[in-house]
Amino acid sequence: MKNKNFYITTPIYYVNGDPHLGHVYTTTAADVVARFKRLAGYNVHFLTGTDEHGQKVAQSAEKAGIDPQEFCDQVAQKFRDVLSPFQISNDDFIRTTEDRHKKTCMALWKKLEDAGDIYLDKYAGWYAVRDEAYYGEDELEDGPDADTKIATATGAECKWVEEESYFFRLSDYTDKLLKFYDDNPDFIGPKSSANEIKAFVAQGLTDLSISRTTFDWGVPVPGNDKHVMYVWIDALTNYISALGWENGESNLMDQFWPADVHVVGKEITRFHAIYWPAFLMSANLPLPKKVYANGWWVVEGEKMSKSLGNVITPETLLENYGSDGSRYALMAEMPFGNDGNFVHESAVNRINGDLANGLGNLAQRSLSMIAKNCESVVPHKGEFSSDDKTLLEKAYALPEVTETHVNAMQIHKYLEAVWSVVGDANAYIDAQAPWKLKKENPDRMQTVLYVLAEVIRCVSIMAQPILPTGADKILDQLALDKSSRTFAHLNENHALQSGMTLPVPQGVFPRLELNTEQAA
Ligand code: MSP
Repeated sequence: MKNKNFYITTPIYYVNGDPHLGHVYTTTAADVVARFKRLAGYNVHFLTGTDEHGQKVAQSAEKAGIDPQEFCDQVAQKFRDVLSPFQISNDDFIRTTEDRHKKTCMALWKKLEDAGDIYLDKYAGWYAVRDEAYYGEDELEDGPDADTKIATATGAECKWVEEESYFFRLSDYTDKLLKFYDDNPDFIGPKSSANEIKAFVAQGLTDLSISRTTFDWGVPVPGNDKHVMYVWIDALTNYISALGWENGESNLMDQFWPADVHVVGKEITRFHAIYWPAFLMSANLPLPKKVYANGWWVVEGEKMSKSLGNVITPETLLENYGSDGSRYALMAEMPFGNDGNFVHESAVNRINGDLANGLGNLAQRSLSMIAKNCESVVPHKGEFSSDDKTLLEKAYALPEVTETHVNAMQIHKYLEAVWSVVGDANAYIDAQAPWKLKKENPDRMQTVLYVLAEVIRCVSIMAQPILPTGADKILDQLALDKSSRTFAHLNENHALQSGMTLPVPQGVFPRLELNTEQAA
């Protein structure tokens, strides 16, 4: 029998700064996929949360002059508060300072130790607090002074660190990982990330320092609390601590592990596609099916940064585009996996073009004609012409076509497929000109309007994952029962019934004014 469980995760976000467009982006992408899979009949578990340990967070708390736990409580709440305004349908929210998480971290550590993969030694090397990452000499450039180097990939400042540290025998996993990548060609996406990771691993891995002694804001190492765990071994474990692995909480592991997809930003692919599978292999746990990296947004051509004052906050997104509009613009404005430039004017044009003029206009035009000319009931359907059939067949094919795209994390292609039917339907209205048929051939007018209503039903069902509010409103206007809105209803067996009374149609997607003022 087909496995109908689906587990999807976002990165857990550092609480050293406030949420912004980048976090909303990744979380929305995961949400679209989670909603899509639910409508496709899967039992979905969707996890997001916050990453609260490590030197970076400890330093931010110190700077703010607050106790680290209190600092984390405050910022984690801000990340939580962003979810509902953007209609994020997560099933759980994990915080790494929770007990359930710490217990799982300790249990995982013990498994790695039992497997003989942990040993105590001394670390001497370059460390970037901003990235919470160790870098090799070949990954660094000279910095502003002799004590500082710059990580070429990220631009983060690195300092020399020398301390006693536990190590994980990552070097033993080079061949095992390369074999795993070969056997599972879709494990890392997009292709560019996969190539980068494979090339990195193929050079041969060195053992990984997995504990720190120079600060204490972390999960203590079992049996030696002079050490706290390296924040990445702690953070990655969230994906199983949230399922209750070895922590005495309700155990969802059987149902949802291995994860179907970890959605991550491209800069953290290495941690998810190298360290995480190696830890899991060592603990004898199954590996996730996919790690998919989204690209990076810049804003109006510039990297978002506090100093440039161009950080787009969640509030700005909501004010400018609303919740559905933000979700749509973020997902449609750049192919998932690519980098992109977020431009206010382009987002407004996209929303006006595809939502106000596209789906909104299609629904508004068709439903008002039905209200006016068909006594506000679903029109009578006569014999279908070949144009009618072509349009309906394309609409009915959407669940299958789009699921392939969503499985490959090609979210923009799923949108393109749905909006291609919206475009065809708008062209069909113009070509069929039902307003002319009213006098010339009222029966045919009824059929044309029926086809339109049925296509609107289909595209709105398909649009629910991306536009949860707007799509629902249109489906309400078709008087469609809430329980009849899944992809299983997207066929002629569940087609609209002629004669059913419809409510008064209302516009769903207002046109946005293009303010000359910038979005940020
Ligand atoms: N805490 C780690 C992740 C641990 S996962 C086990 C972390 N946190 S973070 O707060 O820095 O969040 C980074 C993630 O936010 C990125 O991987 C990406 O998903 C998202 N983004 C942050 N800024 C972004 C852009 N400018 N553009 C697109 N996504 C970005 O790393």
